[in-house]
Amino acid sequence: MNKIKLAGVAVAVAAVVAGVLLYQNGNTSADNVADNTILMKQPLTTADADAVKRGKYIAIAGDCVACHTAPESKNAFAGGYAISTPFGGIYASNITPDAETGIGNWTERDFYRAVRHGKGKDGENLYPAMPYNAYIKVSDRDMHDLWMYMRSVKPVNYAVPETQLPFPYNIRLAMMGWNLLFFKNSGFTPDASQSAQWNRGAYLVEGLEHCAACHTPKNIIGGDTSAYLQGSNLSEWYAPEITSNTYTGIGNWSEDQIVDYLKLGSNHVAVAAGPMAEAVTHSTQHLTDEDLRAIAVYLKSQPGSDRQKPEPLKMDSAQMKMGENIYSINCTACHNSDGKGIPNLAASLADNPAIMGPDASSIITTILQGGRGAVTQGNPTSGAMPSFAWKFTDEQVAAAATYIRNAWGNAAPAVDAKEVAAKRKLLNLPEQMPQDVPTQH
Ligand code: HEC
Ligand code: HEC
Ligand code: HEC
Repeated sequence: MNKIKLAGVAVAVAAVVAGVLLYQNGNTSADNVADNTILMKQPLTTADADAVKRGKYIAIAGDCVACHTAPESKNAFAGGYAISTPFGGIYASNITPDAETGIGNWTERDFYRAVRHGKGKDGENLYPAMPYNAYIKVSDRDMHDLWMYMRSVKPVNYAVPETQLPFPYNIRLAMMGWNLLFFKNSGFTPDASQSAQWNRGAYLVEGLEHCAACHTPKNIIGGDTSAYLQGSNLSEWYAPEITSNTYTGIGNWSEDQIVDYLKLGSNHVAVAAGPMAEAVTHSTQHLTDEDLRAIAVYLKSQPGSDRQKPEPLKMDSAQMKMGENIYSINCTACHNSDGKGIPNLAASLADNPAIMGPDASSIITTILQGGRGAVTQGNPTSGAMPSFAWKFTDEQVAAAATYIRNAWGNAAPAVDAKEVAAKRKLLNLPEQMPQDVPTQH
């Protein structure tokens, strides 16, 4: 609470500072490059078919559908999905060509300004839950194709609920301060010392694919820190480090293994679940092999954090013994006694960097609520893990998590029962059931 209040003050102060600076400098936006006459709702012609097709790929790479479609809804891009932030839920807009409730009356220029600069039609500031700080890197050509594709989607008449954040986040002007601090108004500049392939990977990761939105840790008002792609807490989940660090990052994965993960949703050790399963299903599995390889090359070139593997916790502590016991009874059927799991089905817990990250959120969430791996064209039979929330106490979940983080050559700090209790609350999961309840699972 204190943190949030502090953040509020920081945002408000920054807003004032930014207001003054912007007043002096005028608008530095260069996004007046696009046409400002044709409205989105105006019909396309057959001559536009190629641009529409290319634009579809851009929309997939940008994963626009993930946020702009309500869960279970068949109305793609009609909005209504609430993105949860530490400051409250922010509803993604209806971005179909519907004139009344969507953006049918927008011009191409309005569209560029929203996607790359985070400005609404009337110049109001959008919340950075819309990842414009990444999309600023999208090229003019890709923006044009994306626009043509968005014009081709089915208009849906659906009014999205209004976002209601507490003060001061309800003041869109305050986002100006955020922008001043965290928004870099500069497009993608290729690095001449790197290959074309590396630059293609950088363009996708930094821009359209907005991988940093989840994988780069944030400061208290939600701006990216400099620990680029070094792992970030997403409350229920932890998006692990995806750099060349060989302990908590993916430095030991080959390019092929990274490509597999992004294409199939799993590889020799890992299975994508939660928000990453969504990113794989909606976006990365549809990228070309060349683009996936470019991403892999780029990720492997990132130096990453200086985290180093500690000594593993000793097997003879009470917590480790409890964990080992729970593991051997409840987990070996799928993950095996050697922790190696079933490739491309049940994640390996051994030799899997995500298991040893500094933040055990994904591990605790998975043990408590179970999970399901990404379903992809390349791997249509994903594995599922049952929920254990009803069966184990917080101490037992913490023990199992601590054990798997320190068995089979793994080494990572212990997990505390308090962390498990907090996750249980966050996930709205019941307390453990009394032991005498018959268990016929
Ligand atoms: C991580 C979630 C997320 C992704 C991915 C995303 N958006 Fe958004 N977008 C939002 C949210 C949330 C808003 C509303 C922000 C607000 O209310 O301030 C928004 C707003 C917009 C708006 C402004 C609409 C209006 O009526 O003001 C446009 C246009 C838009 N997004 C287009 C896109 C496109 C195109 C893509 C893909 C390239 C995309 N978005 C990807 C979350 C997302
Ligand atoms: C919406 C948030 C989100 C986005 C966007 C996202 N990721 Fe992830 N990513 C996660 C989470 C959460 C996990 C952990 C998944 C799990 O535990 O199964 C993850 C896991 C991974 C892993 C596996 C790491 C490991 O050690 O197991 C890789 C590799 C990865 N992401 C790469 C990427 C790349 C590349 C992008 C951009 C193309 C990306 N992610 C975009 C949230 C995200
Ligand atoms: C019925 C098979 C099954 C059982 C039993 C099972 N798991 Fe899993 N587990 C899976 C599958 C499939 C996945 C991959 C999908 C996912 O992450 O949700 C997985 C994933 C995990 C992950 C996430 C790995 C990552 O990369 O984030 C952890 C941690 C885990 N299991 C721990 C356990 C523990 C501890 C137990 C015993 C208490 C257990 N599992 C029992 C099938 C199982």
